[in-house]
Amino acid sequence: MTTPYDSDTILIADDDPVIRRNLHVLMESEGYHVVEAADGLEAAKALEALSITLVLLDLKMPGRTGLDVLRDHQDRLEDTPVIVITALGGSSAAIEAMKLGAYDYITKPFDLDEVLFTVRRALEQTTLVAQVRALTSHGDQADSPHDELIGQSPAMLAVFKTIGKVAATHEPVLILGESGTGKELVANAIHRNSDRAEKPFVKVNCAALSPMLLESEFFGHERGAFTGAVTRRIGRFEQASAGTLFLDEIGDLGLDLQAKLLRTLQSGQFERVGGEQTIQVDVRIVAATNHNLSTLIAEHRFREDLYYRLDVVTIELPPLRSRRGDIPFLAQHIIRTLAKKYKWPQLSISSEAVQHLSLQSWSGNIRELQNVLARAAILTRGRLIQTEDLKAGGLPSSSSVQPSPSESAFHLKEILAETERRVIQEALNHTAWNRTQAAHLLGISRRQLFDKIREYGLIRKV
Ligand SMILES: Nc1ncnc2c1ncn2[C@@H]1O[C@H](COP(=O)(O)OP(=O)(O)OP(=O)(O)O)[C@@H](O)[C@H]1O
Ligand SMILES: [Mg+2]
Repeated sequence: MTTPYDSDTILIADDDPVIRRNLHVLMESEGYHVVEAADGLEAAKALEALSITLVLLDLKMPGRTGLDVLRDHQDRLEDTPVIVITALGGSSAAIEAMKLGAYDYITKPFDLDEVLFTVRRALEQTTLVAQVRALTSHGDQADSPHDELIGQSPAMLAVFKTIGKVAATHEPVLILGESGTGKELVANAIHRNSDRAEKPFVKVNCAALSPMLLESEFFGHERGAFTGAVTRRIGRFEQASAGTLFLDEIGDLGLDLQAKLLRTLQSGQFERVGGEQTIQVDVRIVAATNHNLSTLIAEHRFREDLYYRLDVVTIELPPLRSRRGDIPFLAQHIIRTLAKKYKWPQLSISSEAVQHLSLQSWSGNIRELQNVLARAAILTRGRLIQTEDLKAGGLPSSSSVQPSPSESAFHLKEILAETERRVIQEALNHTAWNRTQAAHLLGISRRQLFDKIREYGLIRKV
């Protein structure tokens, strides 16, 4: 069970003062802060003005009804769930409330334990949602760019040596490797180990923008250079002055810009878009791609002269499957990072689970390994990760198509449903399928349990 955070504030909206009082006492005894609202208008005001964690909302109130409040609040349900309290079980209003995204509904007269259980569950889910969101949106920053490069395999030791040797020079470096092998991390390590370490490290993703925007991204623009260019803008080359410019996904750069880039690499010179003045910079270039540049050259999609300009030193990052010996070290490193970041001091992994990880083919490489471990950590709520936790979320079958980490690595609904299914299955096993006992254990009604058994197609194994 989660314990309330200092900031957990529950809004109790009900026109019946006795119910408000009872719920107020109950919630406060559990350590939550409580705010009361006696009608829909007050409830809406409280939601506007205060930072509310969860709402207990009566549907039938004078003035604005609970449904009105819920409708207005729809955008924020993920952060502030609403549990509806209704006098009429199964009424159309309750159904409507669920359709509008209420977390659950409780019928009057209610059992205080039932309310408490539902509140806790809703808050746990909100925390889970927030965690998954944080992991998803900051996937790349989950480890700070200053993170250490982990690896003891001969292939990685060779990479470390090369980084050490080239860092001190001012030559361009080309980093090759499949997606998720650590190209950006290596680019950063080169910068940090160079005599430019105190100067800026600036990254441009050559795949992310349209050619016109990318040109201005590279070189900047003068005011009025094109529609929307209302002020002068300094480009990445200038920002990286005296430091390192990391050209990520260089294989995706269009031919036009390749020509302009080549000139700048040769001379250190460029003009801002719409500008006349030639600017000279001293920038060290590190480029990376997961494409095979020889193929692109053969297809006339990448300039050979640019390739030779960049390819002074090449670092090739081996895919994870060809250095399986590194997997246990990486797994431990990732676990430590997650434990620190999400304050899960007990997070750990069993040796069987590590062994299981070592056998996968990891087409998404280290990023995929991170995603799988993050998901397992959430499933276990930050405790011991075992082999089944890695399978439960559906360890992406690495041998098949590579999942795009941004899209498929965190299916929130699947994770939540899978967790729910497992917990219910365990409760049923534990009680030898005595559904009254199982419902009691789970803290849900028998009816809810029956619904869930049907929803997940759970069957009794004899
Ligand atoms: N050797 C390593 N040790 C520790 N962490 C690593 C290592 N290699 C990669 N990572 C981590 O794995 C994640 C993916 O690495 P990175 O973003 O550098 O990959 P990439 O090769 O640039 O991938 P893409 O081609 O998809 O951009 C990052 O969070 C990075 O910190
Ligand atoms: Mg990258």
